[in-house]
Amino acid sequence: MHLSICILPLLLRTLVFADGVEYDKNGYVIYCPCMGRFGNQVDHFLGSLSFARKLNRTLVVPPWITHKYGRYDGDSFPPYNHWFKVDTLKSYHRIIEMEDFMTNLAPSIWPPNKRKIYCHEIAFSRSDDKKSCPAKSGNPFGAFWDNFKVEFIASEGFPGNLNYHSPKTSWDHAYPSET
Ligand SMILES: *[C@@H]1O[C@H](CO)[C@@H](O)[C@H](O)[C@H]1NC(C)=O
Repeated sequence: MHLSICILPLLLRTLVFADGVEYDKNGYVIYCPCMGRFGNQVDHFLGSLSFARKLNRTLVVPPWITHKYGRYDGDSFPPYNHWFKVDTLKSYHRIIEMEDFMTNLAPSIWPPNKRKIYCHEIAFSRSDDKKSCPAKSGNPFGAFWDNFKVEFIASEGFPGNLNYHSPKTSWDHAYPSET
């Protein structure tokens, strides 16, 4: 399975912004549950939750994606809390819903000029130029990120030795959080 994961580097040292918004200096994991219908999305979500917990970074919990014959609009992305309890999730690991993250944190800690996408190099073969992550090619990939007005300025393949079973130290070494 192909996962598009972004590990966000952080730029600022303090934990609290002037406007009182707190953020996790360990970093964040953000992804698109772009492969398949509900069952696959749950699978994707559980894997990402376990990955974020292992890395001890906050998981940005995306909305679910509902498919209406391949058409997507604002109603196609019900937030996690539409069907599940967020507080229960928070008792397990630090999370923030993507709507909240994009509105309140992204403008400061993930501004448009920092939006890089990461993927397995195997996924490069699906992109037009064969050397970038096909993060927005096709649906729901394009529709999902467009819904949050996200454009990626660059993409990067994971180092060959890294995979989801790699220890936290290997991920931290490849993608340290910028503090
Ligand atoms: C995980 O991160 C939190 C928040 O920075 C920190 O309080 C905690 O000690 C970390 N846990 C481990 C096992 O490093």
